[in-house]
Amino acid sequence: MFYQVYVRSFADGSGDGVGDLAGIRAHLPDLVALGVDALWITPFFPSPMADHGYDVADPRDVEPVFGDLAEFDALLADAHAQGLKVTIDLVPNHTSDQHRWFQEALASAPGSPARARYLFRDGRGPDGSEPPNNWPSVFGGPTWTRVPDGQWYLHIFAPEQPDLDFTNPEVVADLEETLHFWLRRGVDGFRIDVAHGMAKPAGLPDMVRVEDTGLFADDGPGDLRFDQDGVHAIHRRVRAVLDQYEDRMAVGEVWVFDDERLARYLRPDELHLAFNFKLLTADWDADVLRTAIEHSLLAVADVPAPACWVLSNHDRPRHVTRYGGGELGTRRARAAALLQLALPGVAYVYNGDELGMPDVDLPDEVLQDPIWERSVHTERGRDACRIPVPWSGDSPAYGFSTTPDTWLPMPDGWGPLTAQAQAADPDSMLSLYRTALALRRSSAAFGGEDVQWLPAAEGCLAFRRPGGLVCVVNLSSAPVPLPEGEVLLASEPVTDGALPVDAAVWLQG
Ligand code: NOJ
Repeated sequence: MFYQVYVRSFADGSGDGVGDLAGIRAHLPDLVALGVDALWITPFFPSPMADHGYDVADPRDVEPVFGDLAEFDALLADAHAQGLKVTIDLVPNHTSDQHRWFQEALASAPGSPARARYLFRDGRGPDGSEPPNNWPSVFGGPTWTRVPDGQWYLHIFAPEQPDLDFTNPEVVADLEETLHFWLRRGVDGFRIDVAHGMAKPAGLPDMVRVEDTGLFADDGPGDLRFDQDGVHAIHRRVRAVLDQYEDRMAVGEVWVFDDERLARYLRPDELHLAFNFKLLTADWDADVLRTAIEHSLLAVADVPAPACWVLSNHDRPRHVTRYGGGELGTRRARAAALLQLALPGVAYVYNGDELGMPDVDLPDEVLQDPIWERSVHTERGRDACRIPVPWSGDSPAYGFSTTPDTWLPMPDGWGPLTAQAQAADPDSMLSLYRTALALRRSSAAFGGEDVQWLPAAEGCLAFRRPGGLVCVVNLSSAPVPLPEGEVLLASEPVTDGALPVDAAVWLQG
């Protein structure tokens, strides 16, 4: 059970309105009380923050806004003392444009060794004024930016995030040095950013447009930016470093939806885990969710890795909002939590999921995600799911910070959403998570890896784990009778022998 700490938004220890390492350290006891095993802390390395830390200027230091190396060491020691493992983000695919290497590349001539760490190319057209290929950037616009001497450099994300060239041994060696740097300090592992993106096809050929839609094929071999076969050699290098230390792991951000291709990342000498994003992208629909679960399980059927379930993260709308928002979205999110936590394998909870945080509609002028500008104000980006976590009190910043002037504004009316208010309410989302995680950790009912689907009413999901846990989720429009068995936990009251609409129950079958 991992807990994703989005460092800017979890807790602010310094009072500047931005979350930091001291804030995390202060709230470790809350995470122990919640019942998580490990943290994933998003990037806290020196960064100009063009993509809020995913533009790393130095992967082996700490951004002053978040603290310093001594603060990180103290956080790690405290977490370990409290029985929590700590994993950190590794951002190998690209650096910040302020990274020493990129500055050196800009100051060096085309064809120089400094440029060979990145993907600099000449442009097309008679005067080289057209980009070297037709790839689009994930954040909108072309994936190429031109420098004053006329060459172009590749950036799958923002122009401030130039992609590294992993065919250059110096780039791989530097990644290994970064791994050793943090492993020696004692981190328990890494979440690898864009883990399907580091290898690019030789010659960087154009992508073929899917004729009738005008779009690129973005799932599978058609999208040449991702999931190239060469990426696996890089994962083997990472794994070889991890294996030099005891009990360390890596989870990959692998946006690959084909089961067989996803499984390749999980071979014994590659990643220990890969996020399965099928639940993150699934609608609130029994068939869609069942298919998502079946494929997620199939993907790991023949590899040593367990399944790895995610409902929300810092890149996608929060599931309370995705499921309809308001009371409806919250009710469904309660049921989804029991579904996620009943499944075998690893679960990731994104900070604030345990409070039922929704997305927040923000006014244009406070938007910060580069997607907003890059899409020329057609896509609002991901700020809505990154609002600071409310801890206590009745007005902004709700104990997140000592200043109400937080990096993204917190709305009025969040008093009942705070951890403090919810801890005192046995029917709150936080209490549901705490009870669910305690059961998941201690009850023999959760034993065994298999999922046996049980006959269920139309629009419902029901499955049994070998240890005896039965999970039923009612996504239909009418209550359904509860199956036999002692109720361990339910997302809504089930006193009349029926499971209400948009509710889930755990039974000892
Ligand atoms: C995935 C990260 O989760 C996202 O936040 C970031 O913008 C991109 N990778 C680029 O690093």
